Amino acid sequence: MLRDLVVRNRSYRGYDRSQRLSEEELKEFVDLTRYGASSVNRQALKFHIASGEEEVKAIMPLTAWAKGLPDLNLPYPGTEPTAFIVICIDTSIGSINEYLRDVGIAAEIILLAAVEKGYGGCMIGSFRKGSLKELLSLPEDIEPNLVLALGKPDEEIKVVEAVDGNTAYYRKGNIHYVPKRKLSDILV
Ligand SMILES: Cc1cc2nc3c(=O)[nH]c(=O)nc-3n(C[C@H](O)[C@H](O)[C@H](O)COP(=O)(O)O)c2cc1C
Repeated sequence: MLRDLVVRNRSYRGYDRSQRLSEEELKEFVDLTRYGASSVNRQALKFHIASGEEEVKAIMPLTAWAKGLPDLNLPYPGTEPTAFIVICIDTSIGSINEYLRDVGIAAEIILLAAVEKGYGGCMIGSFRKGSLKELLSLPEDIEPNLVLALGKPDEEIKVVEAVDGNTAYYRKGNIHYVPKRKLSDILV
């Protein structure tokens, strides 16, 4: 059921590194994005798949995690993601601003596909773009816009109701809590 997938699709920041995604699986996820909506059907997105241990290790320090929990330094050592998919905008097709929504659509498709296969991930918008572009030797026109971390989740996350409009996520014990606004609060 789509509802179950969407609810299970949380932002995971700790992974079981003994179970890695294969290059094939990652390609399948990217392949699915081709069926997603695309502004004026320009299909301006390009994807870099990183699944090799060395490359994943090199990308990791360029990403920033859980700014809302700065003391925790997530992911904890040994629980890092085992793959990344970098979603890029091909600026030879159009400007970055034109395709930001396409990036979100593709990201959600990939994460839902990963969850369906028993994996999970986290969107990382906070990353060192210049350094990543250089590391991946991306051509001038290809602008990395969103990084998807992926792996086998090894965390308990609970969705709770936001109280008094407070949406800050928090941890108690080992459980990560994500407050979501009520339906009645988001209808205008
Ligand atoms: C566009 C976007 C960028 C994000 N960037 C980061 C990020 O840089 N680092 C991070 O740890 N989480 C990032 N997140 C994950 C959010 O923090 C997460 O979606 C939010 O806390 C709600 O949790 P949930 O995804 O489990 O519902 C990002 C989410 C979105 C939609």
